[in-house]
Amino acid sequence: NKPKIVVTRKIPGPALELLKEHGETYVWDSEEEAIPYDILAHEMKDAAALFTNVSDRIDRAIIEGAPNLKVISTMAVGFDNIDIQAAGERGIPVGHTPGILTEATADLTFALLMATARRIVEGSEYVRSGQWQSWGPMLLTGQDIYGATLGIIGMGRIGEGVARRALGFEMKVLYHNRNRKPEAEEKWGVEYRGLDDLLRESDFVVLLAPGSAQNKHMLGEREFKLMKSNAVFINTSRGTNVDEEALYRALKNKEIWAAGLDVFAREPVDPAHPLLSLPNVTVLPHIGSASIATRENMAMTAAQNIIAGLKGKPLHFEVKQ
Ligand code: GLV
Ligand code: GLV
Repeated sequence: NKPKIVVTRKIPGPALELLKEHGETYVWDSEEEAIPYDILAHEMKDAAALFTNVSDRIDRAIIEGAPNLKVISTMAVGFDNIDIQAAGERGIPVGHTPGILTEATADLTFALLMATARRIVEGSEYVRSGQWQSWGPMLLTGQDIYGATLGIIGMGRIGEGVARRALGFEMKVLYHNRNRKPEAEEKWGVEYRGLDDLLRESDFVVLLAPGSAQNKHMLGEREFKLMKSNAVFINTSRGTNVDEEALYRALKNKEIWAAGLDVFAREPVDPAHPLLSLPNVTVLPHIGSASIATRENMAMTAAQNIIAGLKGKPLHFEVKQ
């Protein structure tokens, strides 16, 4: 009897082929729609392994309702959607894919920073909708990136990747992190700041802290008020890290200049969300790591974590419990 592997979404081919060699796969075969919670709970009852992603809620009930479960593996670096404690109590290892998506996510973060600062999406819509009458001295003017001050909150691998990119734009790079990173300071010339000082000094504030109970609403009214009025805020981490109502007010009242958001407290974000009514907000559908090659690598690594877990071996990348 081959072990049952539940795969909660259509994934790149090679990873699925590999899984099929090691078990009986159940695949929720949709590219767009997440597996409904009830179907997932039902399929998990006799599952030995779970291949998941950021759009599934893997709570205590799912984990406790799966008596044969040996391993959980997410094709993501973040695991805030998984009840790690419930898995730990059962001795079920949880795998993720750090490192693999660092550069792709740093690329997207920088792309969103540039798009927001220079109003790329607004400009494109302006042309397509036939509003373009003539060249204008003040038409769609934005913020300078070259030589500006960048503040990175959360200096993990992706934060360092963004800092390295910023050096090419001769930006001054500040960072805030739970722990100081003397090696990063030495290597990239980045400077540590307390959170308030970073917010006061930065032209660009990039949030890359992991999603967690401690980080919930780490940026709210008080923090947005500390930022410069020309500040551009970028979030490619987790929407829950930000008080979205406070962000809306800060943008609406021009306390900050613009925001670029790849993540939201609730995903998919409601098209009627107040933030989406603002012209100075650039939005994306949580695509930080979405390059073709990176997603294939993430799926492959997540599959390898499953196989190791089924064999009772240490996972290649295991979440500390
Ligand atoms: C995506 O958000 C991830 O955590 O990999
Ligand atoms: C993710 O890889 C991070 O540490 O930022």
